[in-house]
Order: sequence, then structure tokens, then C-alpha cells
Amino acid sequence: MELNKNIVQLLEDIVGASYIFVDLETRNHYGHDETEDLIFPPQVVIKPANAKEISQILKIANEYMISVTPIGARTGLSGGALSIYGGIGLSLERLNKILNIDEQNLQVTAEPAVITQVLREAVAEKGLFYPVDPSSMGSCWIGGNVAENSGGARALKYGVTKDYVLNLEVVLANGEIIWTGANTLKNATGYNLTQLMVGSEGTLGIITKIVLKLIPQNKNNLLLLVPFYKANQACEAVSEIFKAGITPSALEFMERDAIEWSAKYVEGINVEIKDDHQAHLLIEVDGNYPEILMQEAEKIVEVLEQFEIDEILFADTEEQKNVLWKMRRSVGEAVKANSIYKEEDTVVPRYELPKLLDGIKRIGKKYGFQSVCYGHAGDGNLHVNIIRGNLSDDAWNIDVTKGIREIFELTVALKGTLSGEHGIGLVQKNYMGIAFSKTHLELMERIKYVFDANNILNPGKIFPDDL
Ligand code: LAC
Ligand code: ZN
Repeated sequence: MELNKNIVQLLEDIVGASYIFVDLETRNHYGHDETEDLIFPPQVVIKPANAKEISQILKIANEYMISVTPIGARTGLSGGALSIYGGIGLSLERLNKILNIDEQNLQVTAEPAVITQVLREAVAEKGLFYPVDPSSMGSCWIGGNVAENSGGARALKYGVTKDYVLNLEVVLANGEIIWTGANTLKNATGYNLTQLMVGSEGTLGIITKIVLKLIPQNKNNLLLLVPFYKANQACEAVSEIFKAGITPSALEFMERDAIEWSAKYVEGINVEIKDDHQAHLLIEVDGNYPEILMQEAEKIVEVLEQFEIDEILFADTEEQKNVLWKMRRSVGEAVKANSIYKEEDTVVPRYELPKLLDGIKRIGKKYGFQSVCYGHAGDGNLHVNIIRGNLSDDAWNIDVTKGIREIFELTVALKGTLSGEHGIGLVQKNYMGIAFSKTHLELMERIKYVFDANNILNPGKIFPDDL
């Protein structure tokens, strides 16, 4: 239903006049995230202070059947925060406090709008480590990370967001507030609603408090940048490193355009990218004992020497490590600075990575598009950026869509799936039938119904239009 003046007044009574906005500028600002050039402004932007206010807002939305799109830092790449039906844009930005760092139990409790990097630094001051580090960690929020089950570069050794979430305070669509679990490492008590919430993309409830597990901080790491003459060999090397008995703390792949565009885009990069280098691996090992790390690095080099590689760069200062990481983390932004792109977040079992890369390039040729591939090779998680460049509207909307469908069919044939860490949101939803049968999707839909019978929470996301 459209929001009328009376409803806006009811909402204003809850949050106060300073925290509700109907002007176009604010609505447009909250109407986009980092997905392509899409913009869907909500009819009203509202900034509640706490779970209690959110509960009151949802009661009204539920009664009048108004869609509510939770809005985080808007760094998402699948359009999850776009208010595609207008309605209420619910910005969580005022819930931005770290509530407690529990040094006795190695846990942190935070509100959703804490910047991931801020949380990581706050716990690091106590010698604790929150390993999940999406490339956007300097601006994304922990609440968005939970909603999307974000991953990042350290997932191959340390896991993704879901592996750290112990307990969540959630406001349900009817306004009731629950805690989903307990602040324990083990929990075999009924269905696991905590993990159901993780990655549910704001469709099942509004997360207002998050309890995360922490681990002790490692003291040392080594970082290597390895140039390959053949991109496919870089992909092949990935599983060989694990098979040699090493679990790196990061193993990132960047094909030529990815690293070259980023090196040009980020200031102060002095890494030489030679013409005949088709791809690079960025490999990190971490731990407490430098001698062991050296041994691991030597073992990795032994594996790499079976492939056609050029000279390996060992980053030996903190500054150099930061430069290399900045270059890797900026690839997405660098691509965007070059052209609008569609982002696919393919993921396959890591040994299948060479087949995935080959297939993507073959499909690109068939449909006439350029792709820039990079990502978390150690997880088999390859980001495929399809470049708009000067493609016509038809090529962009019709041919590229067919190509993406084939790419997803390939990932599923390789026993992978559609998204490793960016979620389904708006832009991948119509591909869900490739990964799931109708029966499977209907089970998910029924779960959604149990939580949100009126379909007010982030409607139009995850589920395909033709379900
Ligand atoms: C990255 C983001 C796009 O890996 O997931 O840089
Ligand atoms: Zn990523």
C-alpha cells in the first residue's frame, strides 16, 4: 500500500521529526547501493534509534501492509538494500555502538551499524581477532555482513560471517523481539534460527544486536605476490597448495585487467605488471611463529615452481603489505571507475576453478562481452565483472543475461552455486531456478511466510519472479 500522510505521521510520532525524511534528495541517497547504476528510492526514509522503535514501526507496516527495506551501509552488490516497491526505507545507521567486548569469553556484542573495520580494530586493541574482512570493510557494516553472510579474503582459513555469529536480537515482522540463540560456542537446542537469519538478506527480520565469537590475534604473517604467464595455471596452482598440506590465510586471484586497472586506480602503487603476466595470485600465511611461516612459504614456492611463473614478490614491510592489499581490495572500485558492470559472485569447489574460468571466457566470447575476473581463489569464489563498455542496450540486457545464465549453469554443473558472499538480492533472483528445484524454493518461501506472512520485509528479493 502507498504511504499516506496519516501513516507518515504515525511513523514520525515514533522516531521524531528529525529522523523521518520524505524529500527526494534523501530518498534518492538511500535508494541505491553499489549495484550497477540501479536506483529505487523509498517513499520515506526513517532512522529509528533502537529495537523498540523498530518494533513499533514494523507493527504499523504490518498492519497497513507497507514494504520495509532495511538499509545498511549500501555497499552491497546484489541490490539487497534497494526499495524496489517504495515503502519505508529503514536505515539502521543510529544503531552503531559496540555494546560489549567480553574478554573473558572472547566475544563481542555490537549493533548492526558498526563499521566492520571499526569492530575489528576495537577487538584487536584487546588482542582479539575478528577475521572476516570483506574488501569493503572500511565502509560496510557488521549488520549488512550478517544479512548477506559476507566472506572476504580470510574465509579459506577462518570461515565467513556465519562461523562467528552466536546469537542475534531480531525484531520480527509483527514487531515482536526475540534472541535467536545463546552466547555459547555449542548449541543443540532446537532449530538453529541464528543461522537461518544469517544470509537472509533482511527478508525474515531486522537484526538489532549481534553477538560474535572472537579468536586470539595471530602475531605474524607473510605475503607473496606471484605473477603467472597463464591465467589458467594460476587457478590450477590454488588447489595444489592445499594438497601440499598448507592452508594459507588468504589466496586471492586477479586476472590481468583486474590488477592492472587497480594498480592504475589506486595512488602510490609501484608494482610492475608486465605485459606477458596473465594473472597474479596474492598469497598470505599467518601464525605465531616466523620459522613455521617461512617453512610454509617455502613449501608454497615449491608448489608454484611447477607452473610457469615469473619472479615472486615477497612483501617484507608492513607498508608494502598494505599496498598489495589495497590494490587487491580496490579492484571492484577500479572496475567501476572504468565502466558500469554486472557483478556475478560465482563459487565452485576450488579444484574446479580452472574449468570455471575457461568456461566464463568461452561464454563471454559467444555472447560478445568482456569480463574481468578476480576473487577468493582459495574458496573457489570468483567475482566475474561483466563490463558494459560500449555494448548496446540489447546486448547488455538480452545477450549478457543469456551469458550470465550459462555461467550459472556452469557453476552449478561444477557443483558450485550462484553466490559465495554477495547474496542474491534483486539482481540474481531470477537465476535461482538454476540452483534450486521448485520444491526447494517453495520450502524457502514457506519459511518466509512463517516469519513474514504479509511479505513486508524486503519484498521482491531472493525469490524469482515466476515462482
Ligand atoms: C571483493 C569484493 C567485491 O572481493 O567482494 O573485492
Ligand atoms: Zn569478494
